[in-house]
Amino acid sequence: MPTELTTAETIIHTLDRVIRQTDRPVPLHIPTFGGNCWNYVKECIDTGWVSSVGSYVTRFEEDLARYTGAKHAVAVSNGTSGLHIALRMVGVEPGDEVLSPSLTFVATANAIRYCDATPHFVDVAPTTLGVDPGAIGAYLETLTEQREDGYCYNKQTGRRIAALVGMHAFGHPFDLPGIESLCRKHNIAFVEDAAESLGSLYNGKHTGTFAKVGLISFNGNKIITTGGGGMILTDDDELGRWAKHVTTTAKLPHRFEYIHDELGYNYRMPNLNAALGCAQMEQLGGLLEQKRQLAQRYIDAFADVDGMYILPEPEGTRSNYWFSSLVVDRALVPQRDDLLNALVDAGFLARPIWRPMHQLPMYAGCPRMPLPVTEDMAQRVINLPSSAGL
Ligand SMILES: Cc1ncc(COP(=O)(O)O)c(C=O)c1O
Repeated sequence: MPTELTTAETIIHTLDRVIRQTDRPVPLHIPTFGGNCWNYVKECIDTGWVSSVGSYVTRFEEDLARYTGAKHAVAVSNGTSGLHIALRMVGVEPGDEVLSPSLTFVATANAIRYCDATPHFVDVAPTTLGVDPGAIGAYLETLTEQREDGYCYNKQTGRRIAALVGMHAFGHPFDLPGIESLCRKHNIAFVEDAAESLGSLYNGKHTGTFAKVGLISFNGNKIITTGGGGMILTDDDELGRWAKHVTTTAKLPHRFEYIHDELGYNYRMPNLNAALGCAQMEQLGGLLEQKRQLAQRYIDAFADVDGMYILPEPEGTRSNYWFSSLVVDRALVPQRDDLLNALVDAGFLARPIWRPMHQLPMYAGCPRMPLPVTEDMAQRVINLPSSAGL
């Protein structure tokens, strides 16, 4: 490496060594199409089966159930609608509180609000960027009490804490056994926002299948895409049946009558999107390999650079490395925006992590525990171009 480089120049020089794509700009993440993508989508158009009924939707659900090991997989229009239903599935009701990381994409908190519940923000671990059972456990000890109905209540607000949503940030699994046992201890329902972690494993088991209900997203920026789409995962027969029913407008099967037996949602994934999903699933193994190789090249290259590191997959896990995240030292935080500007100017469309939820206007008034790790890491993470095949 040439000496006397600025920090921005050092990062750019390192990216130049890692990324093989020669044309600029290099986007943060783009989808990879190939294989049967076009054939399957064309078949939907040729046959007219483009909407929410069609064989690809069922096939895509079967593919996901087989791949993740979940007993039931229910295909929905996007990850956000899936999270909304996941929270309803575990019994979140208006007036409840739901524990959620503040360091997440806004959909996690929005889905809680769609249930007329209140997000209660909790802190994350620096090694996973996901919910931290140690810190949250200590907080709940003093904040909550278990009442006669068996549920956990916030002593300050008097509201029931109905659920905790953990999120596997950028594909890195959080401490699943720790969070599972915390939820069990306090009788809090556990939901996994595995929107970003298709292909990520904890001790060999797929993320999204530890909690009572899990959710995967197939947005265009994810490891595989259906354009827009999501998948609800559960092992519970009754909940799986109910999820499919309410996401298809709660319509009862009948030869010609329109009978709906409860408030339903038009959240079913269309066949056109599922067709793309089936073709993408055929490519997933190769995409995962490519992304893990890219992450390893980043890890090796940044190992020589002082003041920063690539966030490694947590011990005992296998990450899909949806994003390769560069973590810079605290001393570089004042320069973060200058670094981002320099990277973008050089044609590397790197991005910061999300603005934490408790710093957004609609969630600023929500209850929260002290969030030192969230506030620290929110300023130190720069996501690098991470498309498969770079
Ligand atoms: C952590 C997280 N949760 C939820 C979602 C929502 O998924 P969708 O965009 O499919 O609605 C996303 C991504 O988009 C996400 O990254």
